[in-house]
Amino acid sequence: MKNISELIAQHKMGWTLDQKFYKSEEIFTIEVEKIFQDSWIFIGHQSQIPEVGDYFVYTLLAEEVIILRGKDDNIHAFYNVCRHRGSRICLETSGSTKRLRCPYHSWTYNLEGNLIAAKSFPDELEKSDFSLHKCNLEIIAGMIFINFSDNPQSIENLKRDLKEPFSMFGFEDLKIAAHKNYPIDSNWKLAIENYQECYHCAPSHPEYSLSHSLKIENEPEFDKAQAVMLETLEACGLKDISINHDFSRKEIGQEQYAYSRYALFDGYVTGSKNGKPLAPLLGNITDYNQGCSDFNLGPVCYFLAYCDHMVGYIFTPTAQDKCQCDVYWFVKNDAIEGQDYDKDKLMWLWDTTTFADETIIVNNQKGVNSIKYQSGPFTDKENSARSFIQWYLSVIS
Ligand code: FES
Ligand SMILES: [Fe+2]
Repeated sequence: MKNISELIAQHKMGWTLDQKFYKSEEIFTIEVEKIFQDSWIFIGHQSQIPEVGDYFVYTLLAEEVIILRGKDDNIHAFYNVCRHRGSRICLETSGSTKRLRCPYHSWTYNLEGNLIAAKSFPDELEKSDFSLHKCNLEIIAGMIFINFSDNPQSIENLKRDLKEPFSMFGFEDLKIAAHKNYPIDSNWKLAIENYQECYHCAPSHPEYSLSHSLKIENEPEFDKAQAVMLETLEACGLKDISINHDFSRKEIGQEQYAYSRYALFDGYVTGSKNGKPLAPLLGNITDYNQGCSDFNLGPVCYFLAYCDHMVGYIFTPTAQDKCQCDVYWFVKNDAIEGQDYDKDKLMWLWDTTTFADETIIVNNQKGVNSIKYQSGPFTDKENSARSFIQWYLSVIS
């Protein structure tokens, strides 16, 4: 194989990647180190662990992190690695506990990660030197983000600039109404490329295309729908905000982020089958506005906020040739299932659409594996996918 710098140098700007980027273990190792070990990744919401001792375990490839509410009521993130001989400590994916006891030789840690009991612990050593390793953690408007780097890029600008959009939708006061994991037999980049463009929406997502104007971006009809959405925006308690610091517009040393809003077609106030509301209004919203807001939070986490619910998509690799999409459906935390919302109706659009995406992404990977695959040109309707590739190459080079 040509070396990676040769492959990067040969890349034609605005075209898709060479096959080797989708198949090489060597390149995947670099991606894990340069991208997944220093990106802020959404892993859950504070509402999942409301009580002291509640925890869940987040896994990304070789890393596992215990997310736990401590006695001080703060949320902590500890690597799930015992300081004795390295065993996993938490074997359950979630639960509630008074302490963390390693199943191997019973070294025991308190909820702040300090070693409190270890039989025959060497006299010459100090227990305080054997606390669990902490992982970088940020709670932003109730959302839990972690970063595996020893020297993580800053997430301060994201926090500052998205404060108002987060507050409009009341992110802090949400709960997860549903979560589903979709395994995808493809390299993770094909899943991100697919999410970054809506050129495929009209042919592949008839359900989405009935109501969402993004499928016709850059057409007069899109602008017309946008004008209708903007007319009622402020009366509904929302503001017209547009922020773009993702991929090619990312600031050096800062995690990337973006926010924008686009229209739904007449007759639709949310992402439902019949256009009618699905759940109580979120945050400060006072009435239904026929639009939805896109949030990009880091390179692999995306949220789509309607007036009455929000959907989160997180794409992560599970191997070089496999990835997954975790989809979360959020509603206001006091909404009651069966009374204020119907879970199946809430999930319908993005469950249907994510399954369809899985199929097209896997078919994409199959074609990319062929000896006849060659890099192809992105169109103007795939600008964000093009921008993702340029960012990707700059990070791994
Ligand atoms: S490895 Fe955990 S107690 Fe021994
Ligand atoms: Fe799609």
